[in-house]
Amino acid sequence: NVNGAKAGRSRNILEKMEESGKNCVIFYGSQTGTAEDYASRLAKEGKSRFGLETMVADLEEYDYENLDTMPSDKVAMFILATYGEGEPTDNAVEFYEFITGDDVSFSEGSNPPLENLNYVAFGLGNNTYEHYNSMVRNVDKALQKQGAHRIGEAGEGDDGAGTMEEDFLAWKDPMWAALAEKMGLEEREAVYEPTFGIVDRDNLTPDSPEVYLGEPNKMHLEGTAKGPFNSHNPYIAPIAESRELFSTKDRNCIHIDVDISASNLSYQTGDHIAIWPTNSGDEVDRFLDIIDLKEDRNKVISIKALEPTAKVPFPTPTTYDAIARYHLEICAPVSRQFVSTLAAFAPNDEVKAEMTRLGSDKDYFHDKTGPYFYNIARFLEAVGKGEKWTNIPFSAFIEGLNKLQPRYYSISSSSLVQPKKISITAIIESQMLPGRKDPFRGVATNYLFALKQKQNGDPNPSPFGKTYALNGPRNKFDGIHVPVHVRHSNFKLPSDPGKPVIMVGPGTGVAPFRGFIQERAKQAQNGATVGRTILFFGCRKHSEDFLYEAEWDEYKKALGDSLEIVTAFSRETSKKVYVQHRLKERSKEIGELLSQKAYFYVCGDAAHMAREVNTVLAQIIAESRGVSETKGEEIVKNMRAANQYQEDVWS
Ligand code: 2AM
Repeated sequence: NVNGAKAGRSRNILEKMEESGKNCVIFYGSQTGTAEDYASRLAKEGKSRFGLETMVADLEEYDYENLDTMPSDKVAMFILATYGEGEPTDNAVEFYEFITGDDVSFSEGSNPPLENLNYVAFGLGNNTYEHYNSMVRNVDKALQKQGAHRIGEAGEGDDGAGTMEEDFLAWKDPMWAALAEKMGLEEREAVYEPTFGIVDRDNLTPDSPEVYLGEPNKMHLEGTAKGPFNSHNPYIAPIAESRELFSTKDRNCIHIDVDISASNLSYQTGDHIAIWPTNSGDEVDRFLDIIDLKEDRNKVISIKALEPTAKVPFPTPTTYDAIARYHLEICAPVSRQFVSTLAAFAPNDEVKAEMTRLGSDKDYFHDKTGPYFYNIARFLEAVGKGEKWTNIPFSAFIEGLNKLQPRYYSISSSSLVQPKKISITAIIESQMLPGRKDPFRGVATNYLFALKQKQNGDPNPSPFGKTYALNGPRNKFDGIHVPVHVRHSNFKLPSDPGKPVIMVGPGTGVAPFRGFIQERAKQAQNGATVGRTILFFGCRKHSEDFLYEAEWDEYKKALGDSLEIVTAFSRETSKKVYVQHRLKERSKEIGELLSQKAYFYVCGDAAHMAREVNTVLAQIIAESRGVSETKGEEIVKNMRAANQYQEDVWS
C-alpha cells in the first residue's frame, strides 16, 4: 500500500499485533479527540484489570482487508464518533467506505469472511442531530453482516444530553464482563501501571533550543513551519484586528480578524476555523500548585512511552508548565473514572475513602460535583480539603486527562471579499456557579478575549480579573499570534447567486451569515443578479446585543431592498420573541420563496432553536402547499438531502 510505504510502516494490523504481542486492538474514529481518549482509557483498563495486551490504533493508519485473519483469541474494539450530519470522522472515512461498501472483499475469501472476528463497539454521537450515532450503528450492522461476533452491547454515548461520560462508563462494565467470559480472562485488583515514564533532563533549561514550550511539532520548534496546515500542524497567525461588538455585565462579544496572508491557507465562505487555545494562567497555577509542582514548573523533562504501541501525546523535552498550559485539558470537568484512579494517591486515608466512594457511586459523584463544574485542580482542592496531592505520578495526568483540543468557530467573513483574512465572532460568557467565588469561563473564548485585549494593548487580560497569562516564552506564542487551521464544511451558498436565500441565525449563529451577506453584496457589486436575501436574527435587546447592526446598512447599499434583516428581540417585552415566531409571521412569503427553490439555512443552538425552527418550517410548508404536517416534515427531510436545507449547529 502506497500510504504505508510512504510512512515506512506496515499497514497490516495483524502483523503489528503479532510483532508487539498484542491480543486486543482498539480502533478509534475521532474528530475532536474524545473517541481517541476513550480508546486509550479502554486500553489502559483492559491491561490493568484483565491483563489484556492492548494497543490503540488510528483507523486511518491500517488496512482492513485482512480483518478476516484475526483469530478468535483476539478482539478488536471500535470506538467511533459520528460527525455532523451522520458522517464518519475524517480518519474513519476509508474504513467506513470499505466496511459498508457493497463489494467489500477480504483477503482469504472465506464465507462468512469475519466469522472469527470478535469485536466490541461504542459510538459517540449527539441526539440533537438527525443521524444519531449512525457511524457505530452502521459499522455494527456491516460487521455482523460479514459474520463477526459482537461481545456485549453496542454502546451509544450522547453528547446532546450531556451524558457522554456516564453512557461510556455504564456501557463498559457489562462489556468487560462479557469479554472476560468470552476470552476466559481473570479480573485482578487494578493497580496503577504507568504507560509513560518521566525522565528528568537536568542538563537542559527552558532556554535550550531543543525544549518545546508549546510548539506543536519540530518544524515549529525550529522556526521552519510550513503547510499543509491542518489538525496536526497549525498556522501561527497574526491577528489583523480585534474589537468588541458589545459588552455587558456577564457577556462580551468580540470580532477578530485572523491574517492568513503569509500562509498558503485558504478558506471558503461557510467553512470553520479551528483555534488552538492556551489554558488560563490562573488555572495552570492552580493545577501545578495542588500537585506540588509549582516550584518545579520550569524543570525540563522528557516523556517516554513504556509501551511500544503507546504514543506520547505531545512533543518533548518540555516543562511541566508547558504541558499544563498547552497540552492537557486541565479546565474540563473532572471524570469519575479518573477520580477512581487517583484514589490510590490520596494524601490521607480519609480522603482516600472519599475518593473511592466518589469514583464508584455515580449519584454521589453527581451530587457532590455536578453543580460546581470542578476541573481537576478545583476538585482535588475541594476533596483534599486543601492538602497538597504529592503522591500522584505525573504520568497519571498525561494518561487520564484529555489532550487540549482545538475549538471550531463558524467563519464570519466571505472568502470572496477577504480571502486572506478570516473573521471570527465569539461571545464570552461568564457563569457564576454555586460554591464558587469566581465565574466559570470557557477555555477558548476567554483565550480569544485575552488575545484581543493584548493586541489592543489593554493591560487587563480579562474583564473578570487577571486570568490569562499568555506570555509564552517563545515569540511566536507571544499572545498576539493565534494557532489556527481551517476545516472545510458543506455549509455553502447556492452556486447561482440569483437563488433566494433564507437564513436563521440568532446570537452568534449570525456568524456564517455575515459571511454570506458580505459575499452576496460583493456579487451584486460585481454585476451579478442576486436573489432575495433574508436574515432572521434574534438577540436579547436592540440596544444590547444586536450584532453588526451598522454593517447591514452597508450591505443594503449593494443589495438594496432584496436584503432584509428580520429581528426578534427576546427581552424587550414581557413575552419572548424568537426567530421562529418571526418566521411564522412571514409564512406566506417564505412558502413562496421555497417554491422558487430558495435555500434555507440555520445556524446556532442545536438542542432548542434549530429543532423549533425545523418544526416551524415544516408547518409553513404544510400550510403553503395544503399538505399534512407529517408531509411537511418529509419535505424538509428531502430538502436536507438535496442541500436546499443546511444546518451549522452546535450544542
Ligand atoms: P433568551 O436568552 O432571551 O431566551 C440569542 O441567544 C437569542 O436566542 C436570544 O435572544 C435568546 O433569547 C434566543 N433564544 C433562546 N432560546 C431560543 C429558542 N429555543 N429558539 C430561538 N431563540 C432562542
